Parts: sequence; structure tokens; C-alpha cells
Amino acid sequence: MAEKISTARPRLVRPTAVAIGLLVAIVLVSAAVRIAVDWPNILAGTEPTENDFARRYVAHPWLAYVHIAPGLVYLLGAPLQLSRRFRTRHYNFHRRLGRVLLTCALISGLFALFFGVPYAWAGAPEAVATVVFGCWFLVCLVLAFRAIRGDDVRQHRRWMIRAFAVAIGIGTIRIWVGIFEGVEQATSGGTSPGEPDPTMFGIAFWLAFTMHVAVGEWWLRRTPALTG
Ligand code: HEM
Repeated sequence: MAEKISTARPRLVRPTAVAIGLLVAIVLVSAAVRIAVDWPNILAGTEPTENDFARRYVAHPWLAYVHIAPGLVYLLGAPLQLSRRFRTRHYNFHRRLGRVLLTCALISGLFALFFGVPYAWAGAPEAVATVVFGCWFLVCLVLAFRAIRGDDVRQHRRWMIRAFAVAIGIGTIRIWVGIFEGVEQATSGGTSPGEPDPTMFGIAFWLAFTMHVAVGEWWLRRTPALTG
């Protein structure tokens, strides 16, 4: 169904695009660090010594990387899908790419549960956050898909924005972890490099995802009539 074009709010759009770019870059760096640390061990069949954080990724590479790899495809493609200009100019491509990204997002979300619940670095606080926000992510995606099958473009946009808002929270987790590590290094010498403090890691999960769900709702209130 053709989309209705309404007035965008460039004042909000530009800083949001910059923030999204920054968060995607942070996630790419985290994934690159993971690959650099995990894959030499996975390929050699060895365990990372003195890095318990990495050990879980090396011990369960399928669960971890079937979460990370499709998640990266989704995070890189979703900003294009959310751009009104792109959608209105390339509607057929939007639909085709949308099917691929939706599949990637569903797989990544499911494997976030399979890896993040039993092997959570921060234990129960992280596992519960993973269930709450991981399920929220999956529900948003399913409702977005259902809406577009019913030709409801407005609701489709709203659920896709909610899904993306929570997913990009993974970048903000890293920011919080960095802040907490910086404070800890300055005050008490801190934890080993590459091994965040588990308590802080759990707090970072809750802080970041809660912030992102709230910002997503704020964005939807600020742009209620927009289809882009
Ligand atoms: C869809 C885009 C996503 C991408 C690209 C992504 C990427 C990643 C990366 C790179 C890691 C490794 C973290 C590190 O070493 O610092 C990770 C771990 C993890 N992610 Fe995601 N993620 C995404 C979405 C989600 C969502 C929606 C959840 C659910 C709440 C989630 C839950 C987790 C959990 C629980 C871990 C394990 C953390 C640990 O080491 O204990 N992710 N993800």
C-alpha cells in the first residue's frame, strides 16, 4: 500500500541519525573485539586463558554467533528501512529487504534468549533483563509484521521503531559499561581488561534498555502523525 507523506521534523531527525550512527559503530566495535578474541580460540579448539567473559562465547559459539551475526545485519539495514525518503523512493526494495531483516532480527532475538539466559555474565539480573527486553523486541517485530500484512502502515512504523529502539540499546549498554569501568579504574584499580564487573554489567543492561524503550516512546509521541 502506498505511504502517506507528511511533514518531517528535520530538527529531530538529524541528531537522532547521528546518535544511531554512533551506537551502530559502538556495536560494530564490540562485535569486532569479540571476533578477534573468540575466533582464534574457536578455530584452534582452545580456551581463552584469564578471560572468563570470553570463555562463554568460545564454549557456545553457535548460540553466541547466531545471535550476533544476524543482529549485525539487522542493525546495519534497519536505519535504511526507517528512512522515510528511502521507503517512498524504493518501496519494493523496502519490502524485500524488510523480509530479510525481519528474519535476521527474529533469529537474533531468539538466540539472545538462548545464549543470554543460561550464560549471562551478570547472572539473574542480566538473564531477567534479557527475557524482558528480548521478548519485547520479538513482540514488536511480530506486531510490526502483522500490521503490515493488514496494510496498517502507521502501526507497522510504530512497532518497527519500538523494535529498533530497544535493539540499538545494545550500544548504550557498552557506553554504561565503559563509564562504570572508568569509575572503577579511577577509584580502586578496577577489573581485568575485557572482563566487566558482573554487577555493573547487569545494571548497564537495565539502564540502557529501559532508556531505549522510553526514548522510543518519546520519539513516537513527538512524531505521532508521521509515516517516516
Ligand atoms: C539486534 C541487534 C543486536 C546486535 C547486533 C547484538 C550484538 C551483540 C554483541 C556484539 C554481543 C557481544 C557483547 C560484547 O562482547 O560486548 C552481544 C551479546 C549479548 N546480547 Fe546482543 N545484540 C543485539 C540485540 C540484542 C537484544 C535485543 C538482546 C535482548 C535483550 C540482546 C542480548 C544480548 C545478551 C544477553 C548478550 C550476552 C551478554 C553477555 O556476555 O553476558 N542483544 N550482542
